[in-house]
Amino acid sequence: MNGSALEWSDNFSTDIMSIDRQHQELLFLLQKLLDVLSREDATLEDTQRVYQDLVDHALEHFDYEERIMKNIGYPDRKAHAAEHKDLRAQIDAITQDVMHGDGKSDWKGLVSLVQVWLLRHIVSTDTKIRDFIQNGKADD
Ligand SMILES: [Fe+2]
Ligand SMILES: [Fe+2]
Repeated sequence: MNGSALEWSDNFSTDIMSIDRQHQELLFLLQKLLDVLSREDATLEDTQRVYQDLVDHALEHFDYEERIMKNIGYPDRKAHAAEHKDLRAQIDAITQDVMHGDGKSDWKGLVSLVQVWLLRHIVSTDTKIRDFIQNGKADD
């Protein structure tokens, strides 16, 4: 990673190491996608491969996080899972476009949307899990 906004910060921590590791991996894959998009010699197939990798990890991660929230009895897990559902739907729509479209998609615009959604979700929703672990309540 190159000193960009995608650098991991302790502020992102959920206090659950496996979830933090997956978030770090997602940021890494997001950065990899931004890198491939800025490479002139990258083919559409190269870009699609990196995009698919990010999406596969993100979708698996949402399922994993929902299982963990259930296991620890996290009270806000339904609202949190509803946000994941929304993210899945938005990501699915973009995937249709970039994987099955005519190859003329605005990759940078679409990827920056994914970037904003993922980061916003991690910072404002996933970190509430830490508040619950530390204070025993889900709200701030
Ligand atoms: Fe989440
Ligand atoms: Fe997450």
